[in-house]
Amino acid sequence: MCGIVGYTGPREAYPIIIKGLQRLEYRGYDSTGVALLNHGLHVFKKKGKVAELAETLVGENLHAHIGIGHTRWATHGEPSDRNAHPHTSASGKLAMIHNGIIENYAQLKQELIKKGYTFKSDTDTEVLLNFIEDIRKNNQCNLEEALRIALKRVTGAYVILLIDEDDPETIIAARKGSPLVIGIGKGEHFLGSDASPMLEYTKEVVYVNDYELAIVKPDQLILKNLGNEKITPFVQKLDIELAAIEKGGYDHFMLKEINEQADTVFDCLRGRLDAEKGTITMAGVENNIEKLTKANRIIIIACGTSWHAGLVAEYIFEELCRTPVEVEYASEFRYRNPVVHPGDVIFAISQSGETADTLVAIEKAKQQGAFIFGVVNVVGSSIARTSHAGAYTHAGPEIGVASTKAFTAQLAVLTMVALKIAKQKGTIDEERYMHLLQELHDIPAKIAEVLKSSEKIKLLAEKYKDARDFLYLGRGYNFPVALEGALKLKEISYIHAEGYPAAEMKHGPIALVDESLPVVFVATKDKYHEKVVSNMQEIKARKGRVISVVTEGDDHSASLSESIMPVPAADEIVAPMLSVIPLQLLAYYIGVMKGYDVDKPRNLAKSVTVE
Ligand code: AGP
Ligand code: GLU
Repeated sequence: MCGIVGYTGPREAYPIIIKGLQRLEYRGYDSTGVALLNHGLHVFKKKGKVAELAETLVGENLHAHIGIGHTRWATHGEPSDRNAHPHTSASGKLAMIHNGIIENYAQLKQELIKKGYTFKSDTDTEVLLNFIEDIRKNNQCNLEEALRIALKRVTGAYVILLIDEDDPETIIAARKGSPLVIGIGKGEHFLGSDASPMLEYTKEVVYVNDYELAIVKPDQLILKNLGNEKITPFVQKLDIELAAIEKGGYDHFMLKEINEQADTVFDCLRGRLDAEKGTITMAGVENNIEKLTKANRIIIIACGTSWHAGLVAEYIFEELCRTPVEVEYASEFRYRNPVVHPGDVIFAISQSGETADTLVAIEKAKQQGAFIFGVVNVVGSSIARTSHAGAYTHAGPEIGVASTKAFTAQLAVLTMVALKIAKQKGTIDEERYMHLLQELHDIPAKIAEVLKSSEKIKLLAEKYKDARDFLYLGRGYNFPVALEGALKLKEISYIHAEGYPAAEMKHGPIALVDESLPVVFVATKDKYHEKVVSNMQEIKARKGRVISVVTEGDDHSASLSESIMPVPAADEIVAPMLSVIPLQLLAYYIGVMKGYDVDKPRNLAKSVTVE
């Protein structure tokens, strides 16, 4: 995701755009740029934050009454000056900004290269822009028609704003899958990813829908569908405040990001998983399939929540790929004298891509000849650049310090990688392979189901928020989820919480159990389920307060629990993407009820770039 702003009208465009971009920086902040139309096209763009761009523009001639601006969250092409938006077309007459991913950009790029086009950037956006210009040239049609034709060929998600040097008052916009709001002023129009750039000028807005085109002039807004039929704009009056908009109407970024997970896991699978055809497309895996399938050993290196994702991946890789896996805390691995061989494959998992311990650990392993595969959220980050190959999680910026949507996206990526390796190695039969692809495909809809239970979990939070300690227990794939649930509670509510393998309780920790101790079981139906139920009975027998994440309809586990958090049935390999969500919500609501700043918990930082 990224932030986009546009303006056309009597005011100076630049101040509106640059301030609007600053308000949208929560949506992406690796590079930024502005294009202004005033006797020609003027484009200013660079890597870094909006404030840094603004600083470089002091003293520049920025006079214009029409312009577009972008603050980027890179998906194709690392953060750099040349990959920053706006992009200009081959002719230099068109400028465009884009939010989203053009999935078939590689094919379009090849077609254009054959026609002699060259490219200034590595982005999918520039490909689409030149594709549009090529159509206009060859079809002798206007820009709006060329865009309509182009979009019928495009697969993926987009909001685009397009300006043409030869039409210096019009912004053409189109939307599919990413958000676009148009603010209606008197003799002026504003465009934005949300309403924050226009709120101080107008509260009358039009939310553009998928497959709609907008032709925006100072005194005219025309909406059309891709079939060139006019649509009557539905104007709404906003009664929301600025701060709320940046959080998408949620009280905190953490709650917004928890609720984004159906979409972010979908975005992570998009363009990669095709359950119908039985294919998973991941260039980072395909280009290195030899190394990945022949790995003597997989070593997963990460910290915190990413380390928990690595633990889930250990179970998945060993079960599906039959490759020995070790999971290492980066901070421990880097200071030991670890034994690493050239045949080893290292998976580095990191949301920020800047965690110092993880970065140093993989540099050390790289020096010893290991192959590094990065599973990272921030494109172009240090860990991404240090890795030999990788797969981005495409979860969008994660602003809340507590990692939530990055975790489920990491699991989605790691599951796809494991399935590709197992398929290549022949360690998975066709039936189970196709079943798991379908299970993965169904996850976003099931996450949406779980999120509907948010209010019920809020009631549980009220019931347990004053407990002094918590225990989180699980077995197998759910053991790392228990650890993650405990971490969420600790870092958000400052209540001591410990995650443990459920079977390990009898080796000591069960001495902690009494009527004051909430014990959260991650007890979704899987091959360990009967054993977990026995563990629940052991806790219940000692008056522990059993709270259980259960599979919908599991009445037996529910009968043993004081409170339950049901999730839809799913194969145990993908179930962690569901069973973690009630635990994220429980931690969030308890933290809020205790009055803490859940987006910025005490003592923590979003990215631990220190040792
Ligand atoms: C998770 O909620 C924490 N914020 C923290 O443990 C985090 O997962 C850890 O610092 C690793 O960060 P990374 O994924 O950016 O490398
Ligand atoms: N896919 C485009 C790029 O990587 C746009 C990314 C975004 O939404 O910021 O430049």
